[in-house]
Amino acid sequence: MEQSGVGIAITGSGSATPRVSLSNEALSQVVETSDEWIASRTGIRQRRLAEPGCSLAKLATEAGRGAIEMAGISAMDLDLIILATSTADDLFGSASQIQAELGAFKAVAFDLTAACSGFVFGLVTASQFIRTGVYQNVLLIGADVLSRWVDWSDRRTCVLFGDGAGAVVMQANLHDRLLGFELRSDGTQNNCLNLSYQSQPKNLTDDVTINQGTFHPITMNGQEVYRFAVKKVPEVIEKALFRANLEVGEVDWLLLHQANQRILDAVADRLKIPPYKVISNLAEYGNTSAASIPLALDEAVRQGKIKPGQTIVTSGFGAGLTWGAAVFQWGR
Ligand code: UT7
Repeated sequence: MEQSGVGIAITGSGSATPRVSLSNEALSQVVETSDEWIASRTGIRQRRLAEPGCSLAKLATEAGRGAIEMAGISAMDLDLIILATSTADDLFGSASQIQAELGAFKAVAFDLTAACSGFVFGLVTASQFIRTGVYQNVLLIGADVLSRWVDWSDRRTCVLFGDGAGAVVMQANLHDRLLGFELRSDGTQNNCLNLSYQSQPKNLTDDVTINQGTFHPITMNGQEVYRFAVKKVPEVIEKALFRANLEVGEVDWLLLHQANQRILDAVADRLKIPPYKVISNLAEYGNTSAASIPLALDEAVRQGKIKPGQTIVTSGFGAGLTWGAAVFQWGR
């Protein structure tokens, strides 16, 4: 991509997951399902679930700490904190709470909601502040606790999701490591995947009626979302690679939102990316929404799989519908 302005590097990663894990076997005592069905249709074997007392902010803060430490900076160096989440502890936003917990008192902090695309949308949002020279050090966290909002009697959705957080530090850098991106939305398909507010009319006075209620558990048309992902994700990745002036063969790692192993395989297959380049940890964690990409990234970096200078293409996709891709090289 032709870029003017400051270069951007992703210099640290971190992650955090709840201690409690629920296997497919155990889940089959909650709803009528089986390890065989879940594993063969999704690749998921277990998921981590936030126990009472484990907040979104706690997980996000822990992930953020890991990323700050790896980047070799201190919380006071941060100019901006973006929390990508759909499950904030507080509808007014949870980013400021994380800012306080970290002691990042110079940083401005806000939440960003784009469901499972949140991390990629956050990456691009953060990069605009760095590119224009406004901020130098940004902490981007993707975190979700979807277990709060899953209908635990609906086997079509409850088997898929897990809780977690992942984070990266993005910094102004001499060399530009963020090579290209592309973001998309299609609200006409909004009804495929929702966690929507449902309310009842309430009369305040004789003349004034308002609506009050709460959020309805997640509803999803799984087959539609599946079809959307397999069609749109390869397209948006090709577009991001085009903007980065790269061929598919030059990509070292394909890092997709960890929704379903069959989606990962189908996207890789369409792009002709061999299986050994596909990063996958969804067997252990399920679909952790905005957390899934940075969680898988952090694991792969700490395992020594992803090495400095290697080229990663990442793509998030989900509710909205929203989808997007970004191409970057790991490290300074
Ligand atoms: O972040 C984005 C979030 N969303 C996604 O990534 C979802 C994308 N979609 C998918 O991953 C897949 O569509 C699912 C994994 C959700 C479902 O897989 P599928 O192969 O599309 O299954 P299906 O919905 O066509 O259902 C097949 C059968 C149905 O039974 P009948 O009607 O054929 O008798 C379902 O009732 O499987 C049944 N079924 C289950 N059986 C056991 C659905 N869920 C379960 C379950 N256990 N958990």
